[in-house]
Amino acid sequence: VLAIWNQLTKSQVPELSKCSVLMRDRSSVEETIHAMQRAGAGSLQVISDFDMTLTKFAHEGKRVPTTHNILDNRLLISEDGTKKMRELLNTYYPIEIDPSRSIEEKLPLMVEWWTKVHQMLIQERIRKDLLAQAVKESKAMLRDGYKAFFDHLEEQQIPLLIFSAGVGDILEEVIQQNQVFHPNVHIISNYMDFDQTGALQAFQGQLIHTFNKREGALSRAATLRELQGRPNVLLLGDSLGDLTMADGVPEQEHILTIGFLNDQVEERKESYINSFDIVLVKDETLDVPNAILRYIT
Ligand code: C5P
Ligand code: MG
Repeated sequence: VLAIWNQLTKSQVPELSKCSVLMRDRSSVEETIHAMQRAGAGSLQVISDFDMTLTKFAHEGKRVPTTHNILDNRLLISEDGTKKMRELLNTYYPIEIDPSRSIEEKLPLMVEWWTKVHQMLIQERIRKDLLAQAVKESKAMLRDGYKAFFDHLEEQQIPLLIFSAGVGDILEEVIQQNQVFHPNVHIISNYMDFDQTGALQAFQGQLIHTFNKREGALSRAATLRELQGRPNVLLLGDSLGDLTMADGVPEQEHILTIGFLNDQVEERKESYINSFDIVLVKDETLDVPNAILRYIT
């Protein structure tokens, strides 16, 4: 039976044969996809990270900005702020992706990074009314195939939870400007809090960084009514920390995890293959998730 299934998936999800696709256990992936297909759109929810998962990692050889880096614009922050932000990025990003350090080791350092950047942004008193312009001027870019992805989920009425350690206000603006902020999209992220004059005075709620998404999943995602009664999950991420985004889903039945391996490929390949069901190596498109979604629903 498995052999027939393999053939089926090969012909129906041919994207899984692309050479950028790595799988620890191909037949189990195929079984999960078939089980999800049998259960249908009504049982499915999609949970996705944002930066470097729904957005590109690089375009034409240049890094694409994360939601935080979109704020690195003279419209919003001073030259000092820019300098500080870049220094922090150069210090902490290598730690975030360092395969030789454990998550426990990284945790306090990530809190340090986010806290320092957020403090700087508050000091700069970023203006709410300039955010849209900063996003317009930025090189923010969603992955190729994003429109098919968002539109298909809306058509099938499948909820999409975007769970991001980036900046929620900026994330919303990016998907809004790309015209895919549909009503089935739900966002959990770090949102800015502005004073009466429209200047940034704080960030709302509990800080979300790369490695504490599990807490947010349990306390916030689990309470979203739109996600109830959907035991099957397609999860997309680019960090090992993203794997905990579905921890709040009650009575989970089938989960298929897709990891984008964008950077430090050789060093991280093994851990990604061991952790995600499907690993996409330096793939700047949503072709594989789109093909799976098209087959399932
Ligand atoms: O949406 P996502 O959860 O991926 O957003 C977090 C990402 O933003 C991290 O992977 C991190 O590399 C990046 N980041 C950044 N600048 C900061 C803090 C985080 O580019 N100051
Ligand atoms: Mg990410």
